[in-house]
Amino acid sequence: MLNRKIVILFSGEGSNLLNIIEKLHNKELEVVAAITNRPDAGGIAKARAHHIPVDIIDHKKYADRESFDRALLKQVRSYAPDLVVLAGFMRILTPVITQNIKAINVHPSLLPLFKGGNAIRESFESSEPTGGISIHWVSNELDGGEIIAQESFQKEAGETLESFTAKIRALEHKLLPETIVQILKAL
Ligand code: GAR
Repeated sequence: MLNRKIVILFSGEGSNLLNIIEKLHNKELEVVAAITNRPDAGGIAKARAHHIPVDIIDHKKYADRESFDRALLKQVRSYAPDLVVLAGFMRILTPVITQNIKAINVHPSLLPLFKGGNAIRESFESSEPTGGISIHWVSNELDGGEIIAQESFQKEAGETLESFTAKIRALEHKLLPETIVQILKAL
């Protein structure tokens, strides 16, 4: 096992969070905490079931993005992680975070196509023959940091939003853990 610590940020169902925990926690690395901005996030129960500490920092309780980001930064730093992984963390981040933590993000499109929070639907409905995912460094530009890894698949005849989404999740569940391990080994 690598002597490395990660913190995972999430906002929703947490399938990537759970996948990272199941594949890597106490094997390749230690997931020291999971932090969410949504008190109703499905991932909370998934992390707690694996005894991962979960912090809820509700963005609605903060007056602006900077004050939320300051609270998030303080919490992240308290764990002294080697790497922060954004796994479905649906917040626009300010330089308070982006300039002060080493973080990667998984995004459900072939960046630079379809940046933003509606990437799966936009990519599915577009005339592009392929869908895919990207893992990139978090920078000041939303979904614009340097790309670390990408994988794609062909849209098939009869593809539905559900089947398209399932292919994206399957790729994310393969590529994100692989990329995390690769980055931590190189540190
Ligand atoms: C993932 O598909 C991830 O790529 C996407 O949210 C989903 C979270 O699923 N992230 C973004 O769209 C970021 N802009 P999960 O909660 O089941 O891991």
